[in-house]
Amino acid sequence: MNKDECLKKRLKVTGGNLSLGYSDPLKIVRGEMQYLFDESGKRYLDAYNNVPHVGHCHPEVVEAACKQMQTLNTNTRYLSDHFNAYAEDLLATMPAALDTCFFLNSASEANELALRLSRAVTGHKDTIVAESAYHGHTTTLIDISPYKHNGPGGTGAPDWVHTVPNPDTYRGKYRGDDAASSYAQTVRDAIAQIEQSDRGLAAFIAETYPSVGGQIITPDGYLSTVYQHVRKAGGVCIADEVQTCYGRIGNAFYAFDQQGVVPDVVVLGKPIGNGHPLAAVVTRREIADAFDNGMEFFSTFGGSTLSCVVGKKVLEITHRDGLQQHALEVGRKLLSGFDQLKDKYPLIGDVRGAGLFIGIELVKDHESLEPAASEATQISNALKDAGILIGTDGPFHNVLKIRPPMPFSNDDADELLTSLAQCLEKVQS
Ligand SMILES: Cc1ncc(COP(=O)(O)O)c(C=O)c1O
Repeated sequence: MNKDECLKKRLKVTGGNLSLGYSDPLKIVRGEMQYLFDESGKRYLDAYNNVPHVGHCHPEVVEAACKQMQTLNTNTRYLSDHFNAYAEDLLATMPAALDTCFFLNSASEANELALRLSRAVTGHKDTIVAESAYHGHTTTLIDISPYKHNGPGGTGAPDWVHTVPNPDTYRGKYRGDDAASSYAQTVRDAIAQIEQSDRGLAAFIAETYPSVGGQIITPDGYLSTVYQHVRKAGGVCIADEVQTCYGRIGNAFYAFDQQGVVPDVVVLGKPIGNGHPLAAVVTRREIADAFDNGMEFFSTFGGSTLSCVVGKKVLEITHRDGLQQHALEVGRKLLSGFDQLKDKYPLIGDVRGAGLFIGIELVKDHESLEPAASEATQISNALKDAGILIGTDGPFHNVLKIRPPMPFSNDDADELLTSLAQCLEKVQS
């Protein structure tokens, strides 16, 4: 079916707010490692999708999944060596204190469970969230996602949700040497407000490096101070590592490791299943015990035999192929290339990132930082025409988001740098 017919049919069968990327949408029919192919056979270098962590349709993941599908795929009410083996492998990537895990089907479900754990162990509901955060699409997660509830169609935060600024040292309120402690103080202020109104803190939840917030690299010392404040108030520290896990940031396996903190609850999703719907919540035994209050916990597909086999294989390939070190090296090359482009093209206000988690913030003016959102969209569309996929994000949609499948190579980095320079040339002229 050609693209126009495919689009017409889609609009007929589904809701209008199921969004599509690009002004001229793509119809993708095949994936292979860091490449996607459209219906005409045109190849696209994927510099955007983090879900296919070890590569689109990685042959070893496909083989393991097919073999398991032919053998058994059932639920967690039966004993399974696959369940135990995957849980052990996953827990081995975590600090020793995080010794208990649960499996689910999506990061939304995992964040829901994380909130339930925090409420079970604290007996409270109030939750501190970061400005422009996104944690998922369910009713409660919209409540804790300012990106949604303060955006089009949103109805604002409920009274149990308290919003603090993102620790953004480029555009945010605090930018200097004291930024980390000033931003941490905003969390302390939110806690004080909760306590003054005779309520109690259940959780502080944040992406360790806010991605939807604009690929922000959290300043050193911020999270450790925030966690101290939260724990002093009896709250639970939840790290949403959905976008930053499994070595993507290069210098650590998880972003919380890089920040020198141990969360009470870690939420994983998207990349851990390489496209198979798989998510996980990892926590301390004491928290899992508080949650074990008599009500059964069960997810029909969460932790299925197939999911565990896929999850174990993705983790195995990530370790075996040294993808964290690879992300560090290719990420360094990209960051230095983008920095050189920044010297040449004033449209680039800021280049930031770690490993293969990178943001390029476009501005019309370096003093006022007026966001260059339409230019970001133009560049993303022009790169697509040149056969490269990136994204745009941030509260003003002016941050180019680069977050490719991990096998993205040095040659791919050269291709992206060359094409981006050409697009910047066109947009600036
Ligand atoms: C940081 C973060 N958390 C949670 C989610 C929700 O994930 P899912 O769509 O798999 O439920 C997303 C999705 O974009 C996300 O970016």
